Amino acid sequence: MGLLEGKVAIVTGSGGGIGREHALLFAREGARVVVNDLGSDRHGGGKGADMADKVVAEIKGMGGDAVANYDSVATREGADGLVWSALNKFGKLDIVVNNAGILRDKTILNMSEQDFDLVIDVHLRGTFLVTQAAARVFKVQGKGGRIVNTTSLSGLLGNFGQGNYAAAKGGIYSLTRTAALEFQRMAVTVNAIAPVALTRMTQDLAMFKGMTPEQIGPQYIAPVAAFLASDLAGDITGTIVGVQGPKIFLYRMAETSGVAREGGPWSAAEIKERWAEIAR
Ligand code: NAI
Repeated sequence: MGLLEGKVAIVTGSGGGIGREHALLFAREGARVVVNDLGSDRHGGGKGADMADKVVAEIKGMGGDAVANYDSVATREGADGLVWSALNKFGKLDIVVNNAGILRDKTILNMSEQDFDLVIDVHLRGTFLVTQAAARVFKVQGKGGRIVNTTSLSGLLGNFGQGNYAAAKGGIYSLTRTAALEFQRMAVTVNAIAPVALTRMTQDLAMFKGMTPEQIGPQYIAPVAAFLASDLAGDITGTIVGVQGPKIFLYRMAETSGVAREGGPWSAAEIKERWAEIAR
């Protein structure tokens, strides 16, 4: 029996790249899948049904069950429509993978408000809207659920030229941590993956130069999503799992031991003097 037998899963942005691998693996593991994709280019321009349709055809071709959905995750109607697709076609919802994304890289000095807003809308607002719509269903169903978000090392550590994307992905980190706390009593786990994979989004990056899809393709990311989405991970929530090719690790926010001053507030000069201790 497959790991996800009997489950219904939504994977946003699964018409290509990492999301497609998630959708194909989930279907191979027995899940019925809503393949959502707006069909835009990697900067969020245009739309179309082809990308989602192709993945649905692939899943059906291997004997699985899937339905296409072309809504944008960045709007309330889109997020609600997407969740409705799962209920309408498969009668329930068990798993949501928030994966849809775009890039509009610019340094902060050169970034337009539109470039900032669009990236925040698709990643952060989209993750919030789909999470909220799904959580409302999970609450009514009363059988728990799984949410797997997609953050990035840009959002966790910062990255030159990605102020919009890093802010969105950092927001997804915080949203994941908070949703994990809020949904615990509904037995809904919320985790995030911080992937590195060669896709259309990253094909121009210097770090991938000379690397092949066999070494660092999106096929390495999907098993982590399947694990977090499965019954195997019922006790794992609020974690950020890094995946870079064959390597899997966790990201954790670090806090130094710090220094407490006796007898009231610090002066700026004292902070300077004891900075090394504070930072240790
Ligand atoms: P991709 O460009 O192949 O996939 C993103 C998909 O999202 C596309 O198929 C696109 O059509 C879809 N999409 C865009 N806007 C949408 C919207 N409003 N509604 C629904 N679908 C929409 O890129 P990739 O690499 O597969 O990225 C997947 C996720 O992984 C993204 O969230 C990305 O930020 C994240 N990520 C990827 C990394 C990598 O190394 N490839 C690194 C860190 C994070």
